[in-house]
Amino acid sequence: MRVLVVGASGAIGTRLVPQLIARGHVVIGTHRSPDHADRIRSQGAEPVQLDLLDQHAVRAAVDKAEPAAIIHQATALTDLRDFKHFDRSFAQTNRLRTEGTDTLLAAARDAGVRRFIAQSFASTLYERQGGPVKTEDDPLDSHPVKAMRETVAAMRYLDETVTNAGGVVLRYGGFYGDEDGMVEAVRRRVFPIVGSGGGMSSFIHLDDAAAATVLALDLDGPAVFNVVDDEPAPVREWLPVLARTLGAKPPRRVPRWLARLVAGEAAVVIATESRGASNAKAKRELGWELRYPSWREGFAAAYSGDPLMVPRHGGTQDAPPWPEPSSLPRS
Ligand SMILES: NC(=O)c1ccc[n+]([C@@H]2O[C@H](COP(=O)([O-])OP(=O)(O)OC[C@H]3O[C@@H](n4cnc5c(N)ncnc54)[C@H](OP(=O)(O)O)[C@@H]3O)[C@@H](O)[C@H]2O)c1
Repeated sequence: MRVLVVGASGAIGTRLVPQLIARGHVVIGTHRSPDHADRIRSQGAEPVQLDLLDQHAVRAAVDKAEPAAIIHQATALTDLRDFKHFDRSFAQTNRLRTEGTDTLLAAARDAGVRRFIAQSFASTLYERQGGPVKTEDDPLDSHPVKAMRETVAAMRYLDETVTNAGGVVLRYGGFYGDEDGMVEAVRRRVFPIVGSGGGMSSFIHLDDAAAATVLALDLDGPAVFNVVDDEPAPVREWLPVLARTLGAKPPRRVPRWLARLVAGEAAVVIATESRGASNAKAKRELGWELRYPSWREGFAAAYSGDPLMVPRHGGTQDAPPWPEPSSLPRS
């Protein structure tokens, strides 16, 4: 089928396009930065430069592409640095998830596009109460911390709007597989374990995320899936393993008060209270089999070799520069 991938040049888009083509689809892939056309073309897709916030351009692109399916993977997270002002850092992504989704859905509806899939996020979305691992039916966080209210609201908006329109929402886990900002921060030992390190993370290797997305094209919506691996784990468990895999020093441990001071409330809550997600539904209903069922083998496959061999194209977010706890006063 003809598939329009909006955000084809990003972390997930560049893994998705080759898998779609291998499956026999014809892919039209959009990018925002002018110099990303070659990346899409070299993967066998037709590149189209598009700003998702430009309604006329979106309508024209959808009409021209004549897709049977649209996959919305547009975010603006490349230079994410400031977690203290969380909503400000996510503001453009939030617009892509709200206005951008509305625009794309309206164009899809008018052009008679049958399938619509959109990117959401599992880890920071679910209620921070009850069990450590959440299914798609569990309640979402109704009281996010102030710093990330707009971001959580934008994710909720996308989920509701897309499913109301009959589409499929994929709540991905934390992506890994690229030499991204998280990896860079762990290498530099500026990604600490906060408090007891009890916040749960659900990860997903980018190739497995792309594979689930390809399978979702065969599904009638509306539907929501957690696209995460088999092993949600607390930060205190996975972070030392990632550091060891990278050949980095073990992560520092910092108290909550210090993390709050340096990185802000949102970072502390994510590091200490987040819940993980279950992939049972995606495996059952999509027939999805993971190449990397756990981050343990996935981290090793992605990062244990020569770091220069690890593909790199994406973000370079800096984690905060962690001072030693003893150098700061207690709040
Ligand atoms: N679930 C997760 O953990 C998750 C989800 C998303 C991102 N991330 C991480 O965030 C970092 C950056 O992500 P990324 O590499 O995907 O880059 P990104 O900057 O988030 O861009 C993603 C895609 O959206 C496109 N885009 C940006 N602004 C747009 C706009 N106004 N209209 C239409 N399309 C637009 C980009 O085009 P251009 O490339 O041309 O700018 C790109 O194709 C990576 O490390 C990634 O792993 C993680």
